[in-house]
Amino acid sequence: MAVQRTLSIIKPDAVAKNVIGDIIRRFEENGLSVIATNMIHLSAEQAGRFYAVHAERPFYKDLCSFMSSGPVLAMCLEGKNAIALNRQLMGATNPKEAEEGTIRADHADSIDANAVHGSDSEENAAIEIDFFFSNLDINSRL
Ligand code: CMP
Repeated sequence: MAVQRTLSIIKPDAVAKNVIGDIIRRFEENGLSVIATNMIHLSAEQAGRFYAVHAERPFYKDLCSFMSSGPVLAMCLEGKNAIALNRQLMGATNPKEAEEGTIRADHADSIDANAVHGSDSEENAAIEIDFFFSNLDINSRL
């Protein structure tokens, strides 16, 4: 399995619940390393640019408003099969469908306030990491 990098965002709801440590613990216990972090309170415009791929979806406005409602913790994670592994640890987008023991099953309240975001492909991981980090901010731990 190839070593990959992926972008994880701990969303405003999970930051407000003070469960940053619990979420990072799950990543570390499953073989993912944090190689960059950035706590940032996005503006609605910045959230809109990050989620531009969803611009035509009916939930876009609410998504941008929610993602700019408080600080988020953006992280670059590194590890074997990091993209799929992160998504497995997060669980389904809608917490009602998330498998028991996943981050969203344990910490998400709704499909909007769903605790975490994770890149869905190598191509998007590269774009999303680039949105939050410069190369100088990233410290490979291989
Ligand atoms: P995320 O993985 O951050 O990607 C886009 C976000 O849009 C998603 O998590 C959800 O929080 C939010 N969202 C709201 N409604 C929907 C929906 N019907 N389908 C997918 N994502 C949605």
